[in-house]
Amino acid sequence: MNSNKRPEDMQRITTKKLAESFINEQIAELKAQIGNKKVLLALSGGVDSSVVAALLIKAIGNQLTCVHVNHGLLRKGEPEQVIKVFREELGANLIYVDAVDRFLDKLAGVSDPETKRKIIGKEFIDVFAEEAKKLDGIEFLAQGTIYPDILESEDGIKAHHNVGGLPPELQFELCEPVKLLYKDEVRVVGHALGLPEGMVERQPFPGPGLGVRCVGAITRDRLEAVRESDAILREEFAAAGLQGKVWQYFTIVPDFKSTGITDGKRTYDWPVVIRAVNTRDAITATVEELSWELMKKITSRIIAEVKGVNRVLVDITPKPSGTIEWE
Ligand code: XMP
Repeated sequence: MNSNKRPEDMQRITTKKLAESFINEQIAELKAQIGNKKVLLALSGGVDSSVVAALLIKAIGNQLTCVHVNHGLLRKGEPEQVIKVFREELGANLIYVDAVDRFLDKLAGVSDPETKRKIIGKEFIDVFAEEAKKLDGIEFLAQGTIYPDILESEDGIKAHHNVGGLPPELQFELCEPVKLLYKDEVRVVGHALGLPEGMVERQPFPGPGLGVRCVGAITRDRLEAVRESDAILREEFAAAGLQGKVWQYFTIVPDFKSTGITDGKRTYDWPVVIRAVNTRDAITATVEELSWELMKKITSRIIAEVKGVNRVLVDITPKPSGTIEWE
């Protein structure tokens, strides 16, 4: 698949059968493209890179090396899930890089959102490049580019290369097996490949991860409050049947405190903000109308279980005027 243009007669992949025939075609094409050479993939655990990894494992097995960089800004349980699914269940050649301290040290004291994004992006490339340099004989870089990335990069909206900016000595040939697919098709293919439901139906998650939800300068304790409250929110949304129905939902912990009372004692702690939105294209968004019952349940769990938090707020701002993320 060399062209970047989706053929007009290409059928939309909506069923398991169509997904299976796509998978079989891709396996044959990947084998022909790669031969006995080696391929490297940055595996975030997101839908696109996970589907590419699963396809490549089927096509070329251990000629693929996956690198999973834990930058400390992932959601609760994500690095563990990547290791379980890819290393333990699919037998992938997976390099797990614990870069938590490295990222959080670089981010310490940095409060400007765009500077935070730049630090995270640059550090990611540095860590990935260091791992790539340790490996011998890699000729291909696999990427989870999907068709909207190609369309947006043609329109000049964004550069589509997920790991763009690698140093010149690491310029590999690209291998992008899902680049002509839309997101919904990637999910159908992911299911047909047997990836877990939670991975395939994952809501969108920004590259800078929880870093943009720990508003202002990131501290480890406040980041933990973001991670723990996000995990509770996801659990309760799943229990209420909202997983896969609400487009994106998460928590934010702003960098201010307010007075409260717990067990008769005065507290001075952070609030957690709940944000749940629906959108088609992320350009505009409406707010999901949560039931009081659900909000009260989530509030009592967050207050009881998340350290350093004494209040829960709900953001009911549509986009515009509020962006989906707070930074
Ligand atoms: P905003 O906050 O701009 O978000 O309304 C729109 C969508 O984009 C995601 N988002 C990002 N994704 N890197 C990403 O990969 C980023 O820096 C980033 N910022 C926002 C956001 O989660 C939402 O889905």
